[in-house]
Amino acid sequence: AVVRCCKFEVKRASHTRLCTKKSMLTINGQFPGPTLYARKGGLIILEIVNLADQNITIHWHGVKMPRYPWSDGTDFVTQCPIRPGKSFRQRIILSDEEGTLWWHAHSDWSRNSVYGAIVILPPRRETYPFPKPHAHVPILLGEWWNDDVEQVFGKFLAGGGDPDVSDAFLINGQPGDLYPCSIQDTYKLRVEYGKRYLIKLVNAVMDNIMFFKIGGHNFTVVGTDGAYTKPIKTDYVAISPGQTIDLLLEADQPPSHYYMASRIYASGGEFVTIPTTATVEYIGNYTPPPSPLLPLFPEFDNSAASINFTNQLKSLANKNYPVDVPQSVDRTLFYTLSVNQLPCLKSSCLGTTRLLASVNNVSMVLPRTDILQAYYRGISGVYDSDFPDFPPSSFNYTEGVKAKEQSGSRFGTAVRVLEYNTTVEVVFQGTNLGGGVEHPMHLHGYSFYVVGSGLGNYDRVADPASYNLFDPPLMENIAVPRNGWTAIRFKANNPGVWYMHCHFERHVSWGMGMVFIVKDGDGPNEKMLPPPSDMPRC
Ligand code: C2O
Ligand code: CU
Repeated sequence: AVVRCCKFEVKRASHTRLCTKKSMLTINGQFPGPTLYARKGGLIILEIVNLADQNITIHWHGVKMPRYPWSDGTDFVTQCPIRPGKSFRQRIILSDEEGTLWWHAHSDWSRNSVYGAIVILPPRRETYPFPKPHAHVPILLGEWWNDDVEQVFGKFLAGGGDPDVSDAFLINGQPGDLYPCSIQDTYKLRVEYGKRYLIKLVNAVMDNIMFFKIGGHNFTVVGTDGAYTKPIKTDYVAISPGQTIDLLLEADQPPSHYYMASRIYASGGEFVTIPTTATVEYIGNYTPPPSPLLPLFPEFDNSAASINFTNQLKSLANKNYPVDVPQSVDRTLFYTLSVNQLPCLKSSCLGTTRLLASVNNVSMVLPRTDILQAYYRGISGVYDSDFPDFPPSSFNYTEGVKAKEQSGSRFGTAVRVLEYNTTVEVVFQGTNLGGGVEHPMHLHGYSFYVVGSGLGNYDRVADPASYNLFDPPLMENIAVPRNGWTAIRFKANNPGVWYMHCHFERHVSWGMGMVFIVKDGDGPNEKMLPPPSDMPRC
């Protein structure tokens, strides 16, 4: 079914949080932006009109866009930005995704205020693999800076260190009642006793894995990243930037007011540690407490709490929801993820070093013409096809790679070309330069199976023996543990040009990303579709 959805007008609008009013980039003036609703396999056609004073692209995070990278919306990877006064019609082509995805700006740091949820319902006359919910409730975790974010971003790029931290985290655009200024605007979820709510949780924050809880209630996780999972009963989730989680909340507790709250899992850098809150309020006659009880969160820096939750995610793997994990691979790629010290190349800072980030010691530089167009039209000089393969022998986060990081890193716009239908395994290895942090890695154009993960160095003999090739979760974001590794598998059956990057905004801005070019296959339905006529020009 085609949904001719709407117009997204990119424009500046004033919003006030924490008693600070500022003009910010929005869609249709809303912050957070509108939620899109569609059914599995549907098509949303949407016109982006840029009425703002800056360039923008809009990315449909987790939508695979089969054979149509032209609408992926990635700055200088799949398109040139939409300039002020211009518009671009994007086709959001859904295929097997079902559950929750989201959309966000993909230019500099504009995603801090330009984002929204995508709710994907089962096909008509089909149902959920769990009891039917009474209502869908998008819950977006976000962030607020009192300062102008473009200025924060500029300062961060010039400074060479971590960015200035935001002033609050948000639930559906509101900091909550632990921040004196905004109490009356705190988001309220009104529930009826005995009913079931499907919460569509999105982590849209810039740089943090978040914990999320609802006071007095357990809930059941039933999906992540636009795919269903085996039910997990839990009282908290850990969610990476970019990730979505579907969870069922039963309103089965004594009618009262309860907190819904989120707080960072802090590793590396300085961040706001006050939780953001919303309330779950039962409808009916009762005397609510003066203030609900704040749920107890796992300790800061409790990586076990984050990893343990993520490791519980498993595909349904049944007749109705089969898995298709490549049992063997044509190509194994070893990718180290590092935060490097690199010499500054600008005349203003020559002789000093600054923090940059890399994959296999290449710090990604976005070109001036998008890679997709250059590939499609055979324009040379835009990118190199020499993205390095690391031999597994040098794949050591404490020794070999670290030594290389300090001497061998370089800037580059390098791609890895894959033949159509290659089965690929990528092993990500976090390195411990600068103490090490997680890296929530995200791949455009695909979902992948997360087949294994562990701490320390990847062992290419012992570790594959522990892979889950039976019911691994199907995801498009996965937090690679700090100083650890994660292995993913996918079949390269979506021709196009696809970005893979860390979804910590500070890391991707420092260059932690690379690009896959997946070639056309021979069959008529195995080739990239032609571009639309209104592709933005560079
Ligand atoms: Cu959420 Cu490159 O994307
Ligand atoms: Cu990272």
